[in-house]
Amino acid sequence: MTAISVAGAGLIGRRHLEALRLAGIAIHSVIDPDPAAAEVAAAHGVPHFTDLAAGLAARPDGIILATPNAHHAEGALACIAAGVPVLVEKPLTTDLDDAIALVGAGEAGGVPVLTGHHRRHLPVIQAARTRIEAGALGTLVAAHAMFWLAKPDDYFDTPWRRAPGAGPIYVNLIHDVDLLRFLLGEIASVRAVSSNRVRGNPIEDAAAALVTFDSGVLCTIQVSDAIVAPWSFEFTGHDNPAYPPTDQSAMWIGGTLGSLALPRGEEWSDGGARDWWQPISRTTLLRGGTDPLLAQVRNFADVILGRATPVCSGREGLKSLAALIAIKTAAETGETVTPRV
Ligand SMILES: NC(=O)c1ccc[n+]([C@@H]2O[C@H](COP(=O)([O-])OP(=O)(O)OC[C@H]3O[C@@H](n4cnc5c(N)ncnc54)[C@H](O)[C@@H]3O)[C@@H](O)[C@H]2O)c1
Repeated sequence: MTAISVAGAGLIGRRHLEALRLAGIAIHSVIDPDPAAAEVAAAHGVPHFTDLAAGLAARPDGIILATPNAHHAEGALACIAAGVPVLVEKPLTTDLDDAIALVGAGEAGGVPVLTGHHRRHLPVIQAARTRIEAGALGTLVAAHAMFWLAKPDDYFDTPWRRAPGAGPIYVNLIHDVDLLRFLLGEIASVRAVSSNRVRGNPIEDAAAALVTFDSGVLCTIQVSDAIVAPWSFEFTGHDNPAYPPTDQSAMWIGGTLGSLALPRGEEWSDGGARDWWQPISRTTLLRGGTDPLLAQVRNFADVILGRATPVCSGREGLKSLAALIAIKTAAETGETVTPRV
């Protein structure tokens, strides 16, 4: 039986432990230097290690690396060196060269590396991808994604959150960018503008990006953490109970035969008429269903056993990171940027 260890028993690490338990996958151990993690390990009846080297020496079949972002590169490389498959929380790393190195090391060593973009596992997203691949929307033309919500003033009391390296592009948009890539393919180029007009911090509080996909699909992305609004995947995806839910969508994809609103899973069609005088109606794709964190650990276990390929590989996480950095760079320079990988 596969036994998976969780490194980093913080906010998301504890949810991974719960997902493993609910999925019936054995928990090997908890790895975290914080003494509080001993209680988490005890609650699951598994050993607690205070550093990754000790945890790896105990030979888990896989590790979920839910440590702070700055630790991802070093931690994942240690797992790869030990031949232990690793699922790295998003973002894969904080630095693109580190991500390139770790994905290269995993591929060279034949050690599976996965990225924790769990929203790919939402049933409605899987259903949307199936509909797109089946041609239900016809030729894709355009897409739009929204991340509008309001972070409270005291969120910015923590210095790193108002310093370069933070901001909603880096902190939040990776999820949306990864989903757009999952549904629409590779990104050819990006233009963007940003503003810090509301808070005056040295990071953006709003940005708008124009993204052209290899397929020719034109996409707009809106991001702001200074707007009170219901249109973010955080509020609409219902994949994280910490956020207040709304019944709205946050992403729209349109083609010559129909369009999709996600994550509500509404598919709009005029029955192939392609005529603005004809009635247009909606059907609803599957919503709810399996918790995406559960589906993600199941996929990880199956990859370890050689029964599946990763739904989100390390290389996919790398490409999403490169696209995100392209958006940030485009906003900073005013230039059209091609993602570097
Ligand atoms: N997929 C998602 O939706 C999602 C949501 C939240 C966080 N995350 C990601 O998960 C990661 C963790 O975020 P969090 O909010 O749980 O952080 P957190 O601060 O709540 O927890 C991090 C834990 O890692 C431990 N840690 C620090 N250094 C370690 C090391 N070297 N080895 C082992 N453990 C170590 C800390 O003691 C802490 O318990 C981040 O990369 C974050 O971006 C993803």
